[in-house]
Amino acid sequence: EDEKIVFDSSVMSYETTIPKKFIWPDEFKPRQDILELQVPEIDMKAFHSGDPKVISNLCSKIDEACKKHGFFHVVNHGVDAELIAKAHVLTDDFFGMSLAEKQKAQRTLTDFRGYASSFTGRFSTKLPWKETLTFPYSAENSCKNVEEYFVNALGEDFRHFGEFYEKYCDAMSNLALQIMELVGMSLGVGKYFRDYFEENNSIMRLNYYPLCQTPDLTLGTGPHSDPNSLTILHDDQVAGLQVFLDGQWYLVPPRQGVFVVNIGDTFTALSNGVYKSCLHRAVVNDKSARKSLAFFLCPRRDKIVNPPKKLITEENPRKYPDFKWPTLHEFTQKHYRVDAGTLETFS
Ligand code: SIN
Ligand code: FE2
Repeated sequence: EDEKIVFDSSVMSYETTIPKKFIWPDEFKPRQDILELQVPEIDMKAFHSGDPKVISNLCSKIDEACKKHGFFHVVNHGVDAELIAKAHVLTDDFFGMSLAEKQKAQRTLTDFRGYASSFTGRFSTKLPWKETLTFPYSAENSCKNVEEYFVNALGEDFRHFGEFYEKYCDAMSNLALQIMELVGMSLGVGKYFRDYFEENNSIMRLNYYPLCQTPDLTLGTGPHSDPNSLTILHDDQVAGLQVFLDGQWYLVPPRQGVFVVNIGDTFTALSNGVYKSCLHRAVVNDKSARKSLAFFLCPRRDKIVNPPKKLITEENPRKYPDFKWPTLHEFTQKHYRVDAGTLETFS
């Protein structure tokens, strides 16, 4: 059966019955009685204080969280509040456009870039309740990938979107490199990871989860682990993100002024399995729509993902074979929904 579903959020938000394909099997359906995940708060100002005691305290917090689930909050991150606010406004502007306008940037099955809503070329029986816009970012000097993407996909009128998100991504890349430095210290390998990420070619995704009248039946983003190395997420204070730990789902409570950071599969491989990339998902609700802005830090395409010698020991032998990021990325695109951890499915 191949019902054609047009996910027009301006209509779908009002429907009291949802198409069958959006109804997830019982074992996936969200529950109301959910516990909160313990996520440490990492203060970037403290990191820059240079005080060894303070930094060592931050490192132990990172180490504990990343060995358990890989999620932490980042505060005093130095990213301009106005930049973040505008990133949300432009996201609203984009998803507020008509379906036809958004579809000018329609994503295809062979390309990770573009606009996608639930029906896009997915033969899954469980569709996510969301729309996304995904575009590439390059930290290399004078590369203007984001600006170029918006103009090519949507036209000259969208140059200011591109210019703006280029700046937002610059800020994310910058923050990601600082976090990576701290993570490297936490693993006791100093600046080992710098070469992988300094000139990163990363990915930015804007997520829009329309209000849903039957939030108990569906999911905004199904369970997955992130294939990239580090994800920096900013949401709009509406709860939605959940993490799977020790056999149950936990809520990551939204907090004002923070970024939610999590480890991705490629970093799990880079740390020889020491830091975890945890299964997570996003639920929707019947009170309001939800937005999240995700920056996916990816390693250089030409570098083999190879953990430092220090993390390969007799008790912890080499866990994953050599690979380069583009191979893993293509794999996750082809196998659109990798429900389990990507690295486990990747061969
Ligand atoms: C995702 O993990 O892909 C989305 C998370 C979120 O929207 O909170
Ligand atoms: Fe994710």
